[in-house]
Amino acid sequence: MDDSKSGINIDTSNGRRPFFYDVTLRDGNQALRNPWNLHEKEKVFRQLLKLGVQGIEVGYAGASPMDFASVEHLARLAPKDVVVASLARAVPRDIEMAGRAILHAPRPRIHTFIGLSPFAMENVLRMEPAKVAQKAVESVALCKSVLGGKGDVQFSAEHFGDSMDNLDFVIETFHRVIEAGATVINLPNTVERYRPLVFVEMVRKVVAALPKHVTVAVHTHNDLGMATATTVESFFAGATQLECALNGLGERAGNTNLYEVAVAIHNCGVENPVNMREIYETSLQVSEWSRVPIYEKAPLVGSDVVAHRSGIHQDGASKTQGMKKGAYRAVEGDLIGRGESDRIAFTSQSGKSAVHEIVKGLGLPITLEEAAVLQPALKAASEQAGGELSDAQIKAVYFDTLVNRNAPLVFSGMKANADGDGFTFKVVWNGEQKSLSGSGTGPVDACMHAVEQIGMYFHLVEYTQQALDPEGSEFAAEALSQIRLQRKANAGAQPEGPVVIGRGKDADTVLANVRALFSGMNLLLAG
Ligand code: KIV
Ligand code: ZN
Repeated sequence: MDDSKSGINIDTSNGRRPFFYDVTLRDGNQALRNPWNLHEKEKVFRQLLKLGVQGIEVGYAGASPMDFASVEHLARLAPKDVVVASLARAVPRDIEMAGRAILHAPRPRIHTFIGLSPFAMENVLRMEPAKVAQKAVESVALCKSVLGGKGDVQFSAEHFGDSMDNLDFVIETFHRVIEAGATVINLPNTVERYRPLVFVEMVRKVVAALPKHVTVAVHTHNDLGMATATTVESFFAGATQLECALNGLGERAGNTNLYEVAVAIHNCGVENPVNMREIYETSLQVSEWSRVPIYEKAPLVGSDVVAHRSGIHQDGASKTQGMKKGAYRAVEGDLIGRGESDRIAFTSQSGKSAVHEIVKGLGLPITLEEAAVLQPALKAASEQAGGELSDAQIKAVYFDTLVNRNAPLVFSGMKANADGDGFTFKVVWNGEQKSLSGSGTGPVDACMHAVEQIGMYFHLVEYTQQALDPEGSEFAAEALSQIRLQRKANAGAQPEGPVVIGRGKDADTVLANVRALFSGMNLLLAG
């Protein structure tokens, strides 16, 4: 991206490209209530290949026979261009098992780790730093020999995020493991305790201290909800391998969410190897496979994150709809394979732009002036309903407010007469409630006769009705009535004047017919 006028630049990568290394099948899996079996792991693995990640940590071969079998199986499935890794503690048994399982892959990697923070060495490993460093070096050397010249070795300093007080020792250990054969140095924020910039400064120091042929990786956990920020900023500080997980699955609050990192880096103008159009579908699949639901406000993929409910946001969203940059949207839905970018929903806080968008979206005609008239009625309905209005509720208010607004004859219900002869129609006629009873060959004929009680005589020219697709509409039927005025009740009177077409829809077919009649009558009465 070009230098900005303020000197603050979004892209400071100097042309570096990220290497996405996914840990869903290892860190994500180890945190699941029901860890995946081989068959389930294969589904996730294939999805990761579709997503285009460059490295996949497929498991921890030494953890259990099931994990060993899945690492071995996925290693055999791996394509030529993807790094496939097994985790191994810095102990010979783990490393040997990792080697045996992973060597089937075209690009195998053993990822070994040990805690180098003062707290971890003293309280968890209970070993002197010099001994821990020695173990790290020996482990890397063993990984190298187990791989026999194939693939590569990654070394992680577990709890790196807690190593601000012994950073020189950690860097010194990195130099030694690099000499022993590691080419990827991973810096985990094993527990997120502090602030992103502290971690990023430490990353910067490591990047500056290590030889250029070494890849620096970051692996951050989301205990305080800042893992994405930490990973993205670490990339711009010089880390190239970004360790992430699908749906942010991982220990405790999870690992860095791959989707968020990929999109943020893309938005900053950095070329991204991830096939981002697969993101939305992947997130839904992984949620199903892991049985971990997606929070409705989850960035990018949550069900509700495309909704705009306040008037100010709805106005900005509709004015910038279809534009590359949206007033209130971080990405176009298309970018992540999500059909929807902005959804305008109506609540009591919504404005007239929202009304215009929503009603148009429902396939009903509306002008901006009409939207301004409809908005207070919808607002009142939303307050009464106690929240967001459904499409059906919006349509009902639309018809009551706009279609029947100036109607002298408002139909409000009907019932069959108790004696079985005809029907009674409840109407408001020039502001007055009335019950009009009529009989005939059916409800339509009965209705035509009922309105004669208020001195109205109509002639039905033609009448049609069609069933509506139950999938696409909450209405069962739509009826059209072609009627014209017939000024006198006597049989010989001639119909006169123009023919109008009344329309009616309803979940009940009979009501759709009667609504069509009233709609036509009102058109005639309006002149
Ligand atoms: O979070 C962590 O420190 C890890 C290491 C094994 C890399 O997952
Ligand atoms: Zn981890």
